[in-house]
Amino acid sequence: MTEPFSQRLLRWHAPHGRHDLPWQVNDPYRVWLSEIMLQQTQVITVIPYYARFLERFPDIASLANAPLDDVLALWSGLGYYTRARNLHAAAVQVRDRFAGVFPRSPDDIASLPGIGRSTAAAIAAFSYNTQAAILDGNVKRVLSRWASIEGNLASKAIENSMWALAESLLPAAADMPAYTQALMDLGATVCTPKKPACLACPLQDDCVAKREGRQLELPWPKPK
Ligand code: ADE
Ligand code: SF4
Repeated sequence: MTEPFSQRLLRWHAPHGRHDLPWQVNDPYRVWLSEIMLQQTQVITVIPYYARFLERFPDIASLANAPLDDVLALWSGLGYYTRARNLHAAAVQVRDRFAGVFPRSPDDIASLPGIGRSTAAAIAAFSYNTQAAILDGNVKRVLSRWASIEGNLASKAIENSMWALAESLLPAAADMPAYTQALMDLGATVCTPKKPACLACPLQDDCVAKREGRQLELPWPKPK
């Protein structure tokens, strides 16, 4: 019998995942900042920006109380400046709506500007071991292949079934940080869009797309 999905990912991640990233800490502010920077920017580029940002804004209060222009100046070069505006606005809301304490529940986290359901889940999983599922583009690709989910990923019905599947696969709370990182890393390095490395994949034994040789047909392309 094959091990559960989550156990196989965790076993793969121990030797093959990244464990040395500066945001692998259980501090929601640091995790939040990293997830926002990493949304549209690669790890190697983010690292020096992340260090400079934390030097100038070591906590949420210093960010909330700073002028927006100072935040934008530190963001200069990273692009997608809406991220920096939302980050500042969210810090103000943490100060004013949550008494300066970063919220714990994924729904409260997702109520902040610039944080969607998947990013909220990642922050809660990394910071608090919360059993909340992530579902970004990489994870959608992995799950749509593994379970052979046919259909337009943007449709509400497919979206809902993918969230339900993602939630059904979660491990015990203590394993949530490593599991969440493992799923991100698998999508980024193994189950890639054009050349998935199925022979190196911990999900290969029961992956429906691999069994049927249909990896490149899933997920369905976005309708034009
Ligand atoms: N991209 C988004 N979140 C990430 C993380 N925690 N580590 C590496 N890449 C990421
Ligand atoms: Fe992706 Fe291949 Fe792994 Fe299936 S076996 S999840 S297609 S890398």
